[in-house]
Amino acid sequence: MTGGKIVRVLCFGSLNIDKRYLVDHFVRKGETLSSESYQVFGGGKGLNQSIAMARAGVPVWHAGAVGADGDFLIRMLKEAGVCTEYVRVLDQQCTGHAIIQNDKEGDNCILLYGGANQAVTREHADQVLKDFGEDTILVLQNEISELAYIMKTAHERGIKIVLNPSPMDQKIKELPLEYVDYFILNEVEAAGLTGIKLTVDADGVAAAERLRERFPGAAVVLTLGAQGSVYADSETIIRQDAYIVDAVDTTAAGDTFTGYFIAGLLKNSDMREVMDQASRAAALAVMRPGAAPSIPTAEEVRGF
Ligand code: RIB
Repeated sequence: MTGGKIVRVLCFGSLNIDKRYLVDHFVRKGETLSSESYQVFGGGKGLNQSIAMARAGVPVWHAGAVGADGDFLIRMLKEAGVCTEYVRVLDQQCTGHAIIQNDKEGDNCILLYGGANQAVTREHADQVLKDFGEDTILVLQNEISELAYIMKTAHERGIKIVLNPSPMDQKIKELPLEYVDYFILNEVEAAGLTGIKLTVDADGVAAAERLRERFPGAAVVLTLGAQGSVYADSETIIRQDAYIVDAVDTTAAGDTFTGYFIAGLLKNSDMREVMDQASRAAALAVMRPGAAPSIPTAEEVRGF
């Protein structure tokens, strides 16, 4: 990582109540489907990534918003060691939530309602960002409001920015992407972001190089599910295999990878080691149900 030393992480991101339904297959248009089980978990890409980074052992502040029904998510962050002073409780909003169908192969499909996540304001962003500067890396996903403003303000304060452009939508293209230092994305997000239909070759390296050319100021991590992942910056390309395990639930596997990758950056470990640890952590996450509870501790990752 170039510039001054980064010692802490600010994740400005979503907090969701995840309602997980185990199904035989994903519900089809016009179909009514009974589910086999129902569980409620803490989730949201922001919360999951904050918990992954804290479990990986780096100092994390989470900023975002919940409704009055979201107290348990704040507790969950605190229990993982995340600082929560910038999480607002908005009494007029409900907490964001996700309806997650999970099939027997461990795959999922997710329906989101943003709720309080979409009530983040510029005033909230200013209140948070004034307390952070060049010693901070900011982690963003696409589940809160005012992302462009947050990115611009953070950039003016010399804060490095990681963008995980998930879930992908048209609004992402309007963000000031030139301020991003690290993109962490899968091939669908990469195609949505660049408009380039990436042909992922056998190892994904050519696709990662094309992304780098499109965003020359940034490093890129392209995640390819069971095909592994690729890291590319101006000097290095690293190809990482996925650890193949029996999948129970893939929810939050990408968030776990992202969290462990960023924690690795802060610890200034060797980049090959960073990619390997992130892949191990993601493999452990898919072996367990749910989002936040599936995220492993650093000790579990070392022992895997
Ligand atoms: O990445 C998984 C997460 O996506 C879930 O926890 C859900 O809340 C959605 O944000």
